[in-house]
Amino acid sequence: MSQTRPTAVIVLAAGQGTRMKSALPKVMHPIGGRSLLHHAVAAAAGTSPEHLVVVVRHEREQLVAHLDSLPVASTRTVLIADQDEVPGTGRAAECALTQLPEDLSGTVVVTYGDVPLLTAETISSLVEVHESARNAVTVLSAEVDEPTGYGRIVRDASGALLRIVEQKDASEDERAIREINSGIYAFDAADLRAGLASLTTDNAQGEKYLTDVIGHSREAGRPVAATATDDLWQVEGANDRVQLAKLGKELNRRQCEKFMRAGVSIIDPDTTWIDTDVAIGQDVTILPGVQLLGATDIAAGAVIGPDSTLKDTEVGAGAHVVRTHSELAAIGPSANVGPFAYLRPGTSLGEGGKIGTFVETKNSEIGKGAKVPHLSYVGDAEIGEGSNIGAASVFVNYDGVNKHRTVVGKHARMGSDNMYVAPVTVGDGAYSGASTTVRKDVPAGALAITVAPQRNLEGWVKANRPGTPAAQAAEAATEGEPASE
Ligand code: UD1
Ligand code: MG
Repeated sequence: MSQTRPTAVIVLAAGQGTRMKSALPKVMHPIGGRSLLHHAVAAAAGTSPEHLVVVVRHEREQLVAHLDSLPVASTRTVLIADQDEVPGTGRAAECALTQLPEDLSGTVVVTYGDVPLLTAETISSLVEVHESARNAVTVLSAEVDEPTGYGRIVRDASGALLRIVEQKDASEDERAIREINSGIYAFDAADLRAGLASLTTDNAQGEKYLTDVIGHSREAGRPVAATATDDLWQVEGANDRVQLAKLGKELNRRQCEKFMRAGVSIIDPDTTWIDTDVAIGQDVTILPGVQLLGATDIAAGAVIGPDSTLKDTEVGAGAHVVRTHSELAAIGPSANVGPFAYLRPGTSLGEGGKIGTFVETKNSEIGKGAKVPHLSYVGDAEIGEGSNIGAASVFVNYDGVNKHRTVVGKHARMGSDNMYVAPVTVGDGAYSGASTTVRKDVPAGALAITVAPQRNLEGWVKANRPGTPAAQAAEAATEGEPASE
């Protein structure tokens, strides 16, 4: 790859993106869990250029803050170039050059901030073609069925590239051309500088066209070429929300395919959504209706789904997660979660542990082999290794003003319908009866009970609810028995 490393990659993102009809800048709309701009910058950075420049103008502050927040910003410098009021892709490239050394030499790549499926590999092979032919400009083109709106690749009778003509400036014959300009180019730095210096706004749109650099280089006797890609998705931009959804779906299809080829079973790729930053180990099985979002990481052999959404969640090897919604949680190896579990941020479940049906957890550590199997809320708690929390229990963490913590020790056997009124601590190996309201600490090995003794008022139903089905059933059941007092 080292010989295909460009000197600079310029990502154009100064356009307005009005067709999105959105308060959010176009290039900040996400697919696959990353903004369009993040995808574009990641592909650019993936070619390890010496310089990476993003050209901005509309919503400048928001874009710059967003660029600063991207992971790439922590490992390399992303230069910002501000485009002025002169419109056009050519002007955008000119503004980018002001951020680069004046004597820049080598290959300068231009890409767009709204073309999310372009890969670093495709950019690198364009650079390779460009450099091995010693071209002044090499443009990535594509043959499409519906070329309307794109710049057209104009070739001479021998097939050599002459120039690019924009839709609005094109003649009828030129409009019939189906080979279009993707907007992705490799330039020799000196030729780019010379070409940009010659640009005017003398065209149908009153813009400085970057595409005119090609005609200029050609007229100056420099070699120019267009190389066609057959992967149209990689050069498709998102201009409205319909295209955004189409690109998102295709990105996802590619993600699923990548993981299946790497040894992940995806039962229904059509209903499985996997964000770009997700990691999945070998022999993981993903059942239908699963969304793996953010930085979710699934270890080998786990089974996820059906119908689960895991965001920024870590799942250990061999764990089973069924019909679950989880965010910022860690599920240990061989643990069981769901069906119908809700894991909120800060949940951590130990190896072989269980968070069962209709259980909500938050900011809680549930130890190795510990179980919260049914109908419970666990908030701000620590549950020790091997302990069992009975059905329908609530960790009462909120006093109306502050949140408090509950600690349950190891191997405790807690009854059903317990209320843990925090702050409170239950010792190792303790037990509790059903319906205990744990307000005081329970020492290790003690049995805690708070319920009053049960009283049975015999004959109450017959006396107070005569004639009801309950009274009749009771009468039938007690027939022949001696009346009790
Ligand atoms: C451009 C090409 C056209 C090509 C098409 C591919 C020119 C003159 N035309 O069309 O040949 O087929 O892309 O999609 O280059 N941008 C800026 N500053 C500007 C204008 C645009 O940074 O002043 C950025 C936009 O944010 C966008 C990209 O450049 O990322 C393309 O802009 P857009 O207006 O969509 O493309 P066209 O100029 O119509
Ligand atoms: Mg335009």
